[in-house]
Amino acid sequence: MCGIVGAVSKNRNILPILITGLKNLEYRGYDSAGVAYLKNNKINIVKTSGKVSKLENKLNKSDESNIGIAHTRWATHGKANSVNAHPHRVNHITIVHNGIIENFKEIKDMLEKENYSFKSSTDTEVGCALLNYYYEKFNDVDKTIKAFMNKVIGSYAILMIIDNDLDNLYVMKKESPLVIGITDKTNIVASDIRAILKYTNKYYILDDFEYARVNANEVVIKSVKGDILNKELHTIDIKDSDNYKGHYKHYMLKEIMEQKTTILKTVLPFIKEGLDSLKTLPDLTKYKEITIVGCGTAYHAGLVAKYLFEEVTNTRCNVYLASEFRYQNNFLSKDTLTIFISQSGETADTIAALKLVKSKNCPTLGIINVEDSTISYLVDTCLYTKAGSEIAVASTKAYTAQVALLSILVLSHGLRNKTISRDRALEVIDEFKSIEKLITPLLNDKDTYLSIAKNIYKEEDFFYIGRGLDYYLSMEGALKLKEISYIHSESYSAGELKHGTISLIKKNTPVLASATNSCLNPKTISNLKEVLARGADIYLICNDNYKDDTFTIINIPRTSEFIKTVLVIIPYQLIAYYTATLRGTDIDKPKNLAKSVTVE
Ligand code: F6R
Repeated sequence: MCGIVGAVSKNRNILPILITGLKNLEYRGYDSAGVAYLKNNKINIVKTSGKVSKLENKLNKSDESNIGIAHTRWATHGKANSVNAHPHRVNHITIVHNGIIENFKEIKDMLEKENYSFKSSTDTEVGCALLNYYYEKFNDVDKTIKAFMNKVIGSYAILMIIDNDLDNLYVMKKESPLVIGITDKTNIVASDIRAILKYTNKYYILDDFEYARVNANEVVIKSVKGDILNKELHTIDIKDSDNYKGHYKHYMLKEIMEQKTTILKTVLPFIKEGLDSLKTLPDLTKYKEITIVGCGTAYHAGLVAKYLFEEVTNTRCNVYLASEFRYQNNFLSKDTLTIFISQSGETADTIAALKLVKSKNCPTLGIINVEDSTISYLVDTCLYTKAGSEIAVASTKAYTAQVALLSILVLSHGLRNKTISRDRALEVIDEFKSIEKLITPLLNDKDTYLSIAKNIYKEEDFFYIGRGLDYYLSMEGALKLKEISYIHSESYSAGELKHGTISLIKKNTPVLASATNSCLNPKTISNLKEVLARGADIYLICNDNYKDDTFTIINIPRTSEFIKTVLVIIPYQLIAYYTATLRGTDIDKPKNLAKSVTVE
């Protein structure tokens, strides 16, 4: 979602830094963009709906500046137009803002009584006016920021420029990520260090209720009480290639192909020395139950883990959507471990659920991809997936890394609670070590996926079915197709079809099934025959060398259920990808979606 970049320098033009930063944040999803910078001793603001390239074209090519702030906005309060786009400016103050000011209505009413009026429908303009109100009242930046932080309910990462203090950028943070990158005589602030990696990999992370004064020579970070903080300077090591498409047409395809290595990279630290390395994973036998919380794809990874925990290790496991978790009775207890799954580590609903569990002093574990993200700091224990930067909005390699890491966690738990024998665990470890061999033929089978895509890309409804683990995998398959191709696709438990949904099946309705569990397969095949009898076109992923001329069949290698999950998903991902290419959609940045969903 929204991205922010700000820069201040002694000796260089910061406009290219701002535009490059915004471009690097484009993948997160946005619908308008803007920049404010010092020009002829005045703040010049340029904003537009649409893409950063449009903003770049609107900028005067000869402009140069030493201080500025920039923003990509994903609309929450008010339409995606240039009036609502950031930066916002009220009298002395110009700001960009990520997050939501929840009590903006109350603040707006208060400010209107003080004769403030507003041009936009945004909560950010209200926040900007509030900062100006306190600044005019106190004529002191520390007091202004303190009063603002005490008044505002909600989340924010804010960059602020004050008219008569034009050497400094001020930044403040609560529940929205903010880092301060350090280079020689130029300091750069952003919502994500990856946006500014071209310029620096050294950075400070601001925590909630902290703010900073940043200028070309120094960074002074303070707590809301005004105490100067001595923060740790972090260094990040990300390969540049993670952020480039290379010869691939889309990041999504590149990331799907990277699964050849990312799965093993994720689990290798826990299997490289056989059973001994497995012991380095947290001991879950002290908990009676496991709860898993996540959103979207991460939630689907949680469902796969539930299947494995319950069916293989006889350990009860409940999985909840993070957006629902806070509003239900979760039976939280110290005997239950809650696992939070998130690629970005910044998803607002997941963070809110985590804070609830922490407030009850119950144990937490994170399965997170982005290092130094908010969730990675908040959980008691964090295990990282090693998927690398995932740029395409639709999650692929992060999902398989999550599923693989959770599978290995289940494996170590099964060894400890004696539901899995040492021999079986060693077999699974061997399978993971040969993952590249197992997965490569599936990744390379473009002809099959493309020919399926050609059959289905004009359809508007698509059904995915499966039983048990296959049902959970089909949920992720349906999500992939709908988010990037905009074809309506739903997954159903195969046995549920005839309880209602079968009424929607008509001639040529595509039905994609996976049947990879030999005890359940005959039943799923019967369900497929039922939809076939009603005219559906059937595509079946299976591992039995099942033959049926009336279905299109994709065979995957026969493996344990621990590995199967990451194999079945490959055809699902690639069918979605090729279908979307035929429909000509914006695959890496599907409409209305954001990579990091930082609002609840
Ligand atoms: C779908 C997708 C989303 C995310 C969800 C959670 O392809 O990417 O459904 O899985 O928004 O995001 P994270 O994992 O960052 O918490």
